[in-house]
Amino acid sequence: MQQRILVLHGPNLNLLGSREPDHYGAATLEDITAELERIAAARSVTLEHFQSNHEGELVDRIQQAGGRCAGVLINPAAYTHTSIAIRDAFGATRLPFVEVHLSNVHARESFRHHSMLSGLAIGQVVGFGPASYYLGLQGLIRYLSS
Ligand code: DQA
Repeated sequence: MQQRILVLHGPNLNLLGSREPDHYGAATLEDITAELERIAAARSVTLEHFQSNHEGELVDRIQQAGGRCAGVLINPAAYTHTSIAIRDAFGATRLPFVEVHLSNVHARESFRHHSMLSGLAIGQVVGFGPASYYLGLQGLIRYLSS
């Protein structure tokens, strides 16, 4: 059976393409999803995609992925900086995950410098725009196959 990876996007990422393009660029979530699918197909990996503006829905999807998915690629968006619940979901499921951000959060407001999740992540990719997702997926696949 093909390895399955869950791709999660947090709040407001459904607006990519029109949302604050100076920070987040012109690519839409559909553009990013299409490129992730190309990368995954070339490596015989199956992706599931889910975006939500609701913390509990993201927690539910992480819980459901436990035992079904090999790992998670996540842009937790604003929940990065606040969500103990999402962190605990990763702690509970022990799912390996990579955290990605389009913008360089460390070059922005100080409240974006802290991540609730990064201490549990395999790794973090920030600041490369959509390529943060692509590099993050490649890193996760490499980790899972090692
Ligand atoms: C973001 C950075 C977060 O601080 C912000 O709340 C987002 C997007 C990024 O991809 O750069 O919504 O995760």
